[in-house]
Amino acid sequence: MDSLSCRVSDNTRQICHCLLWISLLILISWTNTTYSSSPPTKRFHFNVEWKKVTRLCHTKQLLTVNGQYPGPTIAVNEGDNVEITVTNSILENTTIHWHGVRQYRTAWADGPAYITQCPIKGGKSYTYKFNVVDQRGTLFWHAHYGWQRASVHGPFIIYPRLPYPFPSPFHGEIPLIFGEWWNGDADAVGSEMMRYGGGPNSSEAYTINGFPGPLYPCSSKDTFIQTVEKGKTYLLRIINAALNDELFFAVADHNLTVVEVDAAYTKPFSTPAVMVAPGQTTTVLLTTDQYPDPSGNSMFPMAITPYLTSVFPFDNSTALGFLSYEKGSANPNPNYNLKVPNLPRMSDTPFATDLSRRTRSLGSRQYPCRVPKSFDKRIIVTVSLNLQDCPSNMTCKGYNGKRYFASMNNQSFVRPLTGSVLELHYKKNLTASTDSLATNFPEQPPETFDFTGVDPLSQNMNTEFGSKVLVVPYGTNLEIVLQGTSFLNVENHPIHIHGHNFFIVGEGFGNYDPNRDPDGYNLVDPPERNTVAVPTGGWAAVRFRADNPGVWFVHCHLEVHTTWGLAMAFVVLDGPGPAQKMIPPPVDLPPC
Ligand code: C2O
Repeated sequence: MDSLSCRVSDNTRQICHCLLWISLLILISWTNTTYSSSPPTKRFHFNVEWKKVTRLCHTKQLLTVNGQYPGPTIAVNEGDNVEITVTNSILENTTIHWHGVRQYRTAWADGPAYITQCPIKGGKSYTYKFNVVDQRGTLFWHAHYGWQRASVHGPFIIYPRLPYPFPSPFHGEIPLIFGEWWNGDADAVGSEMMRYGGGPNSSEAYTINGFPGPLYPCSSKDTFIQTVEKGKTYLLRIINAALNDELFFAVADHNLTVVEVDAAYTKPFSTPAVMVAPGQTTTVLLTTDQYPDPSGNSMFPMAITPYLTSVFPFDNSTALGFLSYEKGSANPNPNYNLKVPNLPRMSDTPFATDLSRRTRSLGSRQYPCRVPKSFDKRIIVTVSLNLQDCPSNMTCKGYNGKRYFASMNNQSFVRPLTGSVLELHYKKNLTASTDSLATNFPEQPPETFDFTGVDPLSQNMNTEFGSKVLVVPYGTNLEIVLQGTSFLNVENHPIHIHGHNFFIVGEGFGNYDPNRDPDGYNLVDPPERNTVAVPTGGWAAVRFRADNPGVWFVHCHLEVHTTWGLAMAFVVLDGPGPAQKMIPPPVDLPPC
């Protein structure tokens, strides 16, 4: 560094030395981040256990993680390695799924029972190991066995590597996880439903962070209250972990600015309320810019109530929580105002439609929208409920003495109980036979008809049962058109795809038209999500690059529909490159 320019004077020499040191330091830190340090590993321990919990004056044993309801928050940084050891301390099986985490090459850690792993049996443990790459924001985790996710769920937050792309800095963050409470055992509701083929008992209450709030009997002490400071902006991480209901959410007198959905940034937009389907998350900014009313009331109610599209009986109640502008007002004033005028009506489909139309990928230079501009394969999948003939040895409690099922392309998915689909695939035991577990999932509906116009009750189809999967080569640009039907009932279906984010390139009501509808696709900034709320009596087209080798579950996130078989799975084959193959199975993978 004793170069010509450094000989001029002592002064210059000092500057040159200084520059030398600075560049050395930069070099050292650059080497550190680039080469020497592997990403840090964050470790967690989950104990699945029963815990006595009381709500609505009903005390019961509730299934929890570490005795907490809702469960503990997992918070990690983008790029971290994550290891979560799950110990099953109950007699029944369990598994945990990290909903929306891509699980790139680590399908073994995804969690859906009999799809990517056999369940963790009572007394056993399994360590889920994965890396969180190229995604940031609000997700959640939940049990993926039976109806256990009713209470076994919690936030999964990924802090970004780069600064947030929103205009305003925020003062604090508030996770809001929505659930459903049954006075009885939720898992038993699911098994009872399958025993008699009827609909499920609806929940007794909705909950905000585990609390139903003052509109339910014997519940006002179980109210979620968040203290906030006036004149600040907060980040609300909204998660719908409810089993069977899409939910509207609003805070009285406050607007919400949506900035992220399903851990993908959006173009910010303001709305008086949001609709969040089970399996979806919405992150919003809220500014505490209101004044207490003349009576000095500084409690602003927030509410969730269902977005209703079904004719089935449902829980039509409203859960309330509060934002309290005063510091330390732990006991809510019993006279506070309970109205949330900006909460949409339960049947407000136009509101839900407009909200999804306004949700767009951020599409910035740092976060470009990577929607495939073309596709290699388009499959059309009907999403149906079915009214099945009652077997002669059974009494069925469904409509007209029949029983309910649900299906995709008239295939009602049955989980194989002898081993996971992923293990079968890995051991090359999945073949294109006509077996019920085979690689021949139909890529089109078995019949073309007026999907959304058939008579719900008279024109039903008996569905077929099996575990057929779709197989695609690594890197396939897939387009999946999810077509609702009017069999039994038109309804909004939140369809979740494991292992991939997708782009919702089009949505509409009625029947999808492959000749005309693609003209209206958004291939510029469609929303990127892991769960799409398929419009009631309509369709949604999603595109993604199938670049994650493994076996991935696709299903309706209304647990009642998944239980009835509204599911399928697809295999993404290994690619040619070394980084395009699944890692081998972990040694502690549970056996069936
Ligand atoms: Cu959040 Cu397969 O589920």
